[in-house]
Formats: sequence, structure tokens, C-alpha cells
Amino acid sequence: MCETKGLLHFLRELRGQGISGCITATKEEKTMDDKHYAKIVEKLAETGDLSDAEFLEVINCTDTELDELLAERARAVRERYYGKDVYLRGLVEYSNICKNNCYYCGIRRGNKNCERYRLTKEQILECGDIGYDLGFGTIVLQGGEDPFFTVDIMAEIIRELKKRHSDIAVTLSIGEMEREDYQRLFDAGADRFLLRHETADREHYGLLHPTEMSFEHRMNCLKALKEIGYQVGAGMMIGSPFQKPEHLVKDLRFLLELKPEMVGIGPFIPHHDTEFKDFPAGSVSLTLRLLSVIRLILPDCLLPATTALGTLDPKGREKGLLAGANVIMPNLSPTDVRGKYLLYDNKICTGEEAAECIRCMERRVESVGYKVAGGRGDHIKRT
Ligand code: SAM
Ligand code: FES
Repeated sequence: MCETKGLLHFLRELRGQGISGCITATKEEKTMDDKHYAKIVEKLAETGDLSDAEFLEVINCTDTELDELLAERARAVRERYYGKDVYLRGLVEYSNICKNNCYYCGIRRGNKNCERYRLTKEQILECGDIGYDLGFGTIVLQGGEDPFFTVDIMAEIIRELKKRHSDIAVTLSIGEMEREDYQRLFDAGADRFLLRHETADREHYGLLHPTEMSFEHRMNCLKALKEIGYQVGAGMMIGSPFQKPEHLVKDLRFLLELKPEMVGIGPFIPHHDTEFKDFPAGSVSLTLRLLSVIRLILPDCLLPATTALGTLDPKGREKGLLAGANVIMPNLSPTDVRGKYLLYDNKICTGEEAAECIRCMERRVESVGYKVAGGRGDHIKRT
């Protein structure tokens, strides 16, 4: 531990124990804190890594000075790789039917109050057409693990999307499968796959999922997707029930090891019809800080400012962009089903038509000095 840090700890401990009544941060302490943060941020930006203790310190810190330093470096790094460009992905939530029962998720099979829907193949393709005409370079197909959508059906949809619009990228977010199925979908033309690892800690995974779901299987899926050649997205919720700062350190270590091309993180938000309904939502500021940290450990990754962030804070997605994110995923699903794909309470963007959504996103992106970019928006090493 460095000398400065030792002294800071000592002063903080004194404050924590109330030894001196109301010792508040002095000017000197503040300067020392700022210097210490600057050192940590410098190390993170230069090496793309920190010790576990340093990651923990960053996660536990509540000083906004650190957030500002991190965000500033994160923006510089994202601009080095992607300039001022923000990529929009057209999200098609094609089914809210799911065979899984993840405890946190509003569309889990055990939620009897969820009004289920499934788009037809034609409806999905129509969403793709609308998205293409609006200028989206990527269509994301996301859904619960709905047994109706077999590998054959999904492959057919992907092939047809690519046949109609040869210059788009197709991203899948359709859950766990076997390696040969992932391979067949890749061969059909899928380019990217989002599969959040949810947590890199086995025990924590067991608290978020029923025993029928396997930590190993999810991890193996991510490895298989990487090996097949997808641009892969991993990620986790911030503030999920039972999550400890140490779990987040493990998540960062896992991301460093997997080196995914995309990382999806967003705050956990409770859903009233789940076992986790009484747990508090995750923190917006910690999510923003981790967006910056992820930008610095994986400098060229594609990093969405998520809808969950926008749900907890009206300016959440703009703040996400300013923290280092470079992707936004507006909704392309037909408006009559949007309100039924409720993973959590109070989800935003469930009313507007796709065209209105895209204009709204453009305005938001421009309001923070960035611009919506055309094209597929591939990871820089895959362009
Ligand atoms: N079935 C696919 C899968 O398992 O990857 C895709 C759909 S799944 C609903 C997409 C992501 O939503 C999950 O990976 C999870 O991180 C996130 N999610 C689910 N419930 C959530 C909640 N209550 N708050 C925030 N995010 C949630
Ligand atoms: Fe399957 Fe949430 S439990 S999508």
C-alpha cells in the first residue's frame, strides 16, 4: 500500500470511528485523494488492468472526482478507436416466451401474470425491413428461450434477413444452445451474439438462477461462441441481488480473460412479479463508473448505454455515452407487443413507433456531442 493511501485510510478510519467527532475532508486530504485517484486512473488507462484491491477500491469509492477522472479517460479512449460515432442497433424482441426461470427476470416461465406473445416469421422480417429503411445497420433478434424457434426456423429467418438486406449485420440474443446449433446459425449468416454471463461467481450464479440452470454451461456457451467466430457480447447486471463488490471484480477479471467484442451492463431493476421484487435497483452511478472501467480494460469494445440505465435515470443513456459507451439499442418491435417484453418494472420506450425512437435517439446522441453513425458498426478488429 502506498504511503499516501495508508494515510488516507488512517484518516478515513478515524472518521469512520467517529474519534474526532466531525472530522471532514480537509483541503489537504482532498488533494491527496485526487492525486491517488489520478494515479489509479493513469495505471488503468496505461495497462488496461489493476490489482484486485485497486478494482475493489474503485468499485467501493463514492467520490465523484474518481468518476469524472475515469469518464474523461474513457471518452478519450473510445474516441481514439471510434471517434464520435455512436452505433444504433434495431432491437426486435420477437418472443417473451421462455423455458427458463431466472429469478430476476419478468418474462421467466414461472410468471403466470406475464401476457405472452410470439411474433411470426413474417412480422420479424417486416421489423427488419422497417429497420433497414430507417437506416439501421444491425438488427438484433432478442427473445426468451422459446422452443418454438428451433435452430431451423432461426436459421431461415437469418438467411432471409440477409437475402433481403445483404449489408446488415445480424446479432442474436437468444440464450443458451449447443455448440453445433450456434455453428449452424453462424453459417446461416449471424454475425454477433449477446449472452451476458450474468455473474462470474459460481455461488452468486446459483443465487440468481434455479438449480436446473448451469454456470458451466453458460460459460461454455461463451467460449464456443468465441471459437466459432462470432463477435461476442458478455456482461452482467449491476446491483443484482446478493452481488458483492468482490463479484464485480471477478466479472472484470472474466471480461479481461474472455476479451468479448461487446459488453452489455445495466443496473438490475426489480420486477413486481418475481422473487426479487423487494430487492433494491442497482446504482446508476456505479453502472456509469463500471462502463468507464470496462472501456479502459477493453478499449476497443462495443459498449451499449442500455435501456435499463435510461429507465432508472431519464438521462441515463446520455450519461452512459459520456462514461465511455458507444452503442444504443432502440426498439424496433411492433408497438402492440413492446409493453409485454417487460424484464423489469417501468421499462421505457414501450410506446413510440420505431421512426420516432430513432429520431429521439439521434437527438439524445447529439445532445452530448456525438453523432449517429451509419453502417454495420462492427467491432474495429472485424471491419
Ligand atoms: N434469453 C436471452 C438470454 O438469456 O441471454 C436474452 C434475453 S434476457 C431477458 C436479456 C438480459 O436481460 C439478461 O441477460 C439479463 O441480464 C437482463 N435482465 C433480465 N432481467 C433483468 C432485470 N430485472 N433487470 C435488469 N436486467 C435484466
Ligand atoms: Fe428467459 Fe428471462 S428467464 S429471458
